[in-house]
Amino acid sequence: WVHYAPLVKAINELKRERGAVILAHNYMTPEIFHCVGDFRGDSLQLAKEAARTDAKVIVQAGVHFMAETSKLLSPDKTVLIPDPLAGCSLASSITADDVRALRAAYPGVPIVTYVNTSAAVKAECDITCTSSNAVKIVEGLGAPRVLLIPDQYLAKYVQTQTDKVEIITWKGSCEVHERFTGDEMEAMRAADPGLKIIAHPECPPDVIEASDFTGSTAAMIDWVKTKRPAKVVLVTECSMASNVAAEVPDVEFVRPCNLCPHMKRISLEKIYEALLYNRYEVTVDPTVAEKARRAVERSRSTAS
Ligand code: 13P
Ligand code: SF4
Repeated sequence: WVHYAPLVKAINELKRERGAVILAHNYMTPEIFHCVGDFRGDSLQLAKEAARTDAKVIVQAGVHFMAETSKLLSPDKTVLIPDPLAGCSLASSITADDVRALRAAYPGVPIVTYVNTSAAVKAECDITCTSSNAVKIVEGLGAPRVLLIPDQYLAKYVQTQTDKVEIITWKGSCEVHERFTGDEMEAMRAADPGLKIIAHPECPPDVIEASDFTGSTAAMIDWVKTKRPAKVVLVTECSMASNVAAEVPDVEFVRPCNLCPHMKRISLEKIYEALLYNRYEVTVDPTVAEKARRAVERSRSTAS
C-alpha cells in the first residue's frame, strides 16, 4: 500500500482542484476503491450518485457504459473515463439495429435493457434495469410478455423470480460470470459443507441454483455484512472479495478468481492522468441521448 501513497495524494489533490468526484464500482481494485473512490457501489447506486452530485467533473472508475449512463443523467457535467477501451461483453453483444429487429419481430412487446448496454441501444428500448431492480421493472410494466436484453442469464434468473411475465431474451452473457460452473460450486460445497455461496445473477442457472443467495454486487456485500458467515465465496468478479474483506475481518473468503479485463483497465495511474489531462471525455450524440435518457429516467421513477 505504501507505494500507492504519492499517487493517491496527487489524485485527491487534483480532485479538489478540479471539483471532481470519483465514482468507483465494486469491481475496482482496493487501492482505487478505498483510497480515491468518493462514492462506491453497484451500477444502480453509482447512477443515482451521478444524478445527485454537485461536482463539476465525474471520473467513472468503471466501464464505458457506466460513464455513458452518468453522462445521460448529468448532461452538463464533464464525465471522464480513464480508459476508453474499458468495454463489456454484454454491451458489445447487441447493437441498436438488433433492437430495432427485435421490435419488428415482437410488435407490442416492451423492451427492457440491462444498463450494461450502449446509449444507442438504450435509445431503442423502453426502459432500463440493473441487476438490483430487474424483477420490479419487468413486473411493473404490467405486460404479459417482456423482452429483457441482452443478458440471457439475468433474464433466466428474473424468470425464476416471477410468474406474472413471460420473459424473452437475447444471447448476450458476461464473460466473467459465464465462466463459473455448477460443478465448481458443488466441488467447493463438498470440500467445505459450512461454506456459504452467494452468486451474481449474471451467472449461469446451475451456479445460481447451487447458491445460498443471489443479488447485485451491492446486495451481495450487504448480505455478507449483515449475515457475517464464517466462510463465504462471492461468485463474481474477484476484486470485490478484496474490497469487502477489508471491512469484515471476521469472515473468511474462498477466492476463485475471475477478473474482468475491462474493469481492470482502470488503474490509479490512468485516473491521475484523466484528471490531469481532462481525458477521456464521454459524450453522447444529443438525439440518442434524449431517447436513452427517457429509458433511464423511466426506470428511476418506476423503481425508486
Ligand atoms: P452490479 O454492480 O450492478 O451488480 O453489476 C455487476 C456488473 O457486472 C457490472 O458490470
Ligand atoms: Fe461486463 Fe461482466 Fe465486466 Fe461487468 S464483469 S463489465 S458485465 S464483462
